[in-house]
Amino acid sequence: MIVIPGPSSLNLGAKVAEIAGCRRVDLDYKTFPDGESYIRLREAVAGEAVALVHTTFPQQDKRLIELLLLTDALKDMGAKKVTVIAPYMAYARQDMRFRDGETVSIKTLFKLIEGAGADQFITVDVHKESTLSAFSIKAKNLYASEVIGKYIRDLNLKSPYILSPDKGAIMIAKRVAEIVGAEYGNFEKSRDRITGAITVKGERVDASGRDIAIVDDMISTGGTIASAAKMMKDRGASRVMAFCTHPLLVAGARERMKISGVDEVLGTDTVESEISAISVAPLIVKGLS
Ligand code: R5P
Repeated sequence: MIVIPGPSSLNLGAKVAEIAGCRRVDLDYKTFPDGESYIRLREAVAGEAVALVHTTFPQQDKRLIELLLLTDALKDMGAKKVTVIAPYMAYARQDMRFRDGETVSIKTLFKLIEGAGADQFITVDVHKESTLSAFSIKAKNLYASEVIGKYIRDLNLKSPYILSPDKGAIMIAKRVAEIVGAEYGNFEKSRDRITGAITVKGERVDASGRDIAIVDDMISTGGTIASAAKMMKDRGASRVMAFCTHPLLVAGARERMKISGVDEVLGTDTVESEISAISVAPLIVKGLS
């Protein structure tokens, strides 16, 4: 198998190739002055099984176009099998028509990926796993809780409590808590669909003197984590750390979390950011076998 690190996953793709012991094929790429993407494979791929590792953030729309161009080109150049690995799958939160007239964005994108020629699709902690049923090719969701849990376990936190800030990340919190050997629970969050304002409320947790690890699938504006962290600090937590699979960290997110009492924020390399201390490369290699 050949591994191709796409322009948005250069480090992760290289790690996947190294751990899997596979040949890596690099790309030439650039953006034309008018914003269009140019990509060229440096080596032939005819007859090969290819794993393309290319995340779809930042610049979701550009990354998605690159993903489609590459997938189609790989098939066109004779690759035997193309596995598209989008460690972070953009647009996954828009998985239904919440308000009349809205697009069901994730469904459209899955149709395009399959239509471009992907034989298999792999992602990590997609917002809702059931959306993968829109594919007719084999599609797998991998769980970053495995690597996040091990990372937190090795921190030897003081009387740790694993908190999901909303119902959506309960399964992540549960698995992380199993690995760490800690208690877990969840808050409930509601978001105003028009203003985006977040309200978090939840069960009473005795946070006093404890280290709290908040886990979520993604951190975008940091608003969800900030609200949950503030409640935990108000209840006497000695330290609040936040962990996520996908550190999108849009402008102001880190500051927003910091002023709400978050002591440290860490994420995985599904999105390569300055806080991507936890690698999903071993998970992807396992998922490829
Ligand atoms: C939403 O349901 C997700 O699981 C995250 O909690 C959310 O997208 C995080 O967004 P933000 O950082 O903007 O609050």
